[in-house]
Amino acid sequence: MNKIYEPFLKSADFYDLFYKNKNYKKETDYVLKKLSNKINLLDVGCGTGKHSFLFSKYKINVTGIEFSKKMINRKLENKYLKFLNDDFLKFKPKQKFHNIVALFHVVNYMNSEYKIRKFFSQASNILENNGRLIFDSWNVIDSKNQNQPTEKHIKTKNYDIFRFSKTRSYNDYIEVIFDFLVINHDAKKYHSFTEKHKMRPYSKNFFLSLAKENDLKLIENKEFLTEKKITTTTKSSIYVFEKKYSS
Ligand SMILES: C[S@@+](CC[C@H](N)C(=O)[O-])C[C@H]1O[C@@H](n2cnc3c(N)ncnc32)[C@H](O)[C@@H]1O
Repeated sequence: MNKIYEPFLKSADFYDLFYKNKNYKKETDYVLKKLSNKINLLDVGCGTGKHSFLFSKYKINVTGIEFSKKMINRKLENKYLKFLNDDFLKFKPKQKFHNIVALFHVVNYMNSEYKIRKFFSQASNILENNGRLIFDSWNVIDSKNQNQPTEKHIKTKNYDIFRFSKTRSYNDYIEVIFDFLVINHDAKKYHSFTEKHKMRPYSKNFFLSLAKENDLKLIENKEFLTEKKITTTTKSSIYVFEKKYSS
């Protein structure tokens, strides 16, 4: 594989610790109701594979695709679940999928016009007719207002891990800067590192134009999980598109 941008290269080992309170079960069950059917599913940017694993518990054949090798947790693989260490934008599958999901702002990591265009065309090409593309996206207005620094502290038996984050807004993307401090009490050592995530918010109208070019029809767009109408304070919204082959 060519050298690619891996946003979680340095912090992958701590990813599950930082998101241990994220309700993956609730999110999976919420998205489950929106699937086209329960035959198969591709989980794009599956990360450590938590949604993938929970979908596989419903006997759906799940393929989790993730370009960061360090993120993939092979221990979760089972009869219904396999992981691929690949870039979705270059992926050439042998089969088509009934469902493609990309959860937890994966689309916002498609941080250039080239990447988001490729994401839509790739998804459309590998979806079965009437298949669904489902993702959540960081809201444009909210992301521009998110300049407040945040701090998170995780404590385990041997470690104290601190993560400070701040955002910088540029013309067409947001840079999220994470400063980590990792204290290993057993080894009496500490180290620090910085990770910069370049994320791009997208408007509904832009998604609609890409969908039109790719035979995808928007069937749902609401606030993620709550199903509320989108407002200027909505942090994250869900998009459900359906593939309609043009005859
Ligand atoms: C915020 S994480 C979300 C991980 C997981 N979906 C979750 O809910 O915990 C975004 C993930 O998307 C992955 N990713 C971004 N672009 C990708 C691409 N083109 N192909 C495969 N994985 C990608 C990143 O490596 C990262 O692990």
